[in-house]
Amino acid sequence: MKTLILGASGQIGAYTVQDLVEMCGVKDVIASSLRLDDVKNAMTALKLDKKVQMVELNAYDVDIVAKTIKKEKVDAVVNCAWYQTNLAAMDACLKGGAAYTDLGGFFDTCLKQLKLHKKWKDAGINATIGLGSTPGMTNIAGAAGAKRLDRIDSIDIVCAWGNTLPVKEAGWPGYSIRTVLDEFTQQSVQWIRNKYQKQEILGGEKEVMMPDPIGKIKTYYVKHSEPATMGKYLKAKNVTFRIGFPPNDMSTFQTLRALGFADETPLDISGCKISPLDFLTGMHQRGIEQGRTAIPKEEYEYDMFRIDCMGEKDGMPSTVTYSIVTWNDPVRGVSSARDTAVPPAIVSLWQMKRKIKAPGVFPAEATVDPEPFFEELGKRKIKVEERTTTSTKYY
Ligand SMILES: NC(=O)c1ccc[n+]([C@@H]2O[C@H](COP(=O)([O-])OP(=O)(O)OC[C@H]3O[C@@H](n4cnc5c(N)ncnc54)[C@H](OP(=O)(O)O)[C@@H]3O)[C@@H](O)[C@H]2O)c1
Repeated sequence: MKTLILGASGQIGAYTVQDLVEMCGVKDVIASSLRLDDVKNAMTALKLDKKVQMVELNAYDVDIVAKTIKKEKVDAVVNCAWYQTNLAAMDACLKGGAAYTDLGGFFDTCLKQLKLHKKWKDAGINATIGLGSTPGMTNIAGAAGAKRLDRIDSIDIVCAWGNTLPVKEAGWPGYSIRTVLDEFTQQSVQWIRNKYQKQEILGGEKEVMMPDPIGKIKTYYVKHSEPATMGKYLKAKNVTFRIGFPPNDMSTFQTLRALGFADETPLDISGCKISPLDFLTGMHQRGIEQGRTAIPKEEYEYDMFRIDCMGEKDGMPSTVTYSIVTWNDPVRGVSSARDTAVPPAIVSLWQMKRKIKAPGVFPAEATVDPEPFFEELGKRKIKVEERTTTSTKYY
């Protein structure tokens, strides 16, 4: 079993390598990224530098990635680089003959990836896309809910995070700053009455009750890939995705947007050309690198998801609700990186073991068996709870 990770120097990629080595027990792991120095630093910080092979690979470089897959006899690839690389990385896997998984394609790229289904089916290779916390765990929870019900009508997903520190300061997001700014600058598309429906940026405000210590929180629609796939694959009429930003993060991201940090047009500063978005990305990368060695000493940060699956069971209305809670952990690291990094590692292992083998391109809800997956999460202190609300007639 040999796996190749693209973007292994990133916030998520480094922890995916860690999970593959330390929890999945994969002996042959190739950790790669755009710059060899970056991947060496990340692997050294996680004490993995002696356990994995490290190479420099650009995920856009289809021929070189395909050549590496063939030369190294790679069975499965996990793409943890930015989602814009997903199509090129898939092309390389198809050419090289390796199974594929990634962290999601942010709606539009995800739909383009699914269009490659026939090519992958004909080649007899599995690609299961969108494996992280969200998309990823959320899709699999939706699939679990659909299994419990006779008919599923609606799936409402909420993502939130925070910390218990007495003073809430501005900090870096737990996921790519580029994706955050996409969420704050692009209209979302929700699946409503069996159709994609565009919504205004941060529209659909709704109060939702989350597990402690969050409680009641205001949530907003953002663009995400769950509404792109789950309605069609799980036959639900409505699929919505909202984020409950902690108030301090909400104002930080709004300020970054207002100051123009989402702009990709290069600025000329003393003869050096760089876009505000690339500059901000560089600062984010530096912050992550510094944070990687500072493993939290106690549980104070958390990531939480709520997935409500509403439909019918035995002729009566029924709702299956999943809560997924991850606290940061003194041994396994910060919550937001862990709950996103673990799902693609589990899926990559299952692809290599042929537990997931359907040829073609699928979203997570179509190929991942929910209960064994939730049990694997439990081993990593990512806690999934299922609660069913049923109705009874006395007439
Ligand atoms: N599904 C989910 O729950 C979820 C959650 C969080 C993030 N994500 C997605 O996952 C992706 C990665 O997120 P992140 O937070 O880990 O981002 P990140 O910390 O910015 O890391 C991305 C890494 O990709 C590498 N990279 C960039 N371009 C590359 C290329 N052409 N070839 C190879 N490597 C390349 C960079 O390497 P260098 O260091 O060498 O520049 C960087 O280390 C984002 O698209 C994000 O939206 C998904």
